Amino acid sequence: PVFHHLFGLSELEEKIRRRYGLQKVMIVPGDSDSSPRTKRELGRMGASALLQAMGTDDVVAVTGGTTLAEVASAMSSPVPLKGNLFVPARGGLGESLDYQASTIASTMAKRTGAQYRMLHVPDHLSREAYESLMQEPNVKEIVEVVRSARIVLHGIGDAMTMARRRKVESSVVGELLEEGALAEAFGYYFDRNGAVVHKMQTAGLRLEDIMQTEMVIAIAGGQSKGEAIAAVMRFGHDDVLVTDEAAALEIAAIS
Ligand code: BG6
Repeated sequence: PVFHHLFGLSELEEKIRRRYGLQKVMIVPGDSDSSPRTKRELGRMGASALLQAMGTDDVVAVTGGTTLAEVASAMSSPVPLKGNLFVPARGGLGESLDYQASTIASTMAKRTGAQYRMLHVPDHLSREAYESLMQEPNVKEIVEVVRSARIVLHGIGDAMTMARRRKVESSVVGELLEEGALAEAFGYYFDRNGAVVHKMQTAGLRLEDIMQTEMVIAIAGGQSKGEAIAAVMRFGHDDVLVTDEAAALEIAAIS
């Protein structure tokens, strides 16, 4: 609703930016939980944040999710960004095909004239299968490329919503609840203080890679994600947050 804007989204942006020591916060009006139009706007804003951050020969690692899918469909470039390479941030995390990181990376590349690489690691691998897969030279090589990303663009989810969507075993759901998991991003689960309480086994970016990435951009909106976004901001390794008004009001209300 229009009246909110009398207070100015830019004040809200500045408040959140300062609280979490971010470089930049961008807020679109509305609530993407209930408005597909707001979610589309969020995607558009995410695409412009990403394009602004990109140079001429960057490796850009992206996660999956419905929000990232909106970003992908809003991407375009008047000149082909040939020297740039899109890669999935992590391998199989139990998402359906449309929302997998590899699909998003390839869509972004096709829409901007950039390159892409895939990282095909099946979900739910046994430890032995996982470890031998990691010895494969071509898997190793692409994982190294992923870890060299200068830019990471990731979504944020509510922990229980993501666990359910990924059909995580009920014993693990129990553990997550016990550990106070509130948020999920790139296959890691965080508690309200931004501490990592659980991780999903797959290849790609590790926490230590994210901590060292030059430009980490988070994109997530909707009132239901407010607390989860705040938890990941407490983790403290994002540079830019792209969100919507409903999530931002939740975030601002958390003390
Ligand atoms: C996943 C990402 O694919 O999507 C996560 O790996 C993120 O980082 C999640 O939490 C968010 O999904 P959505 O559909 O809410 O944008």
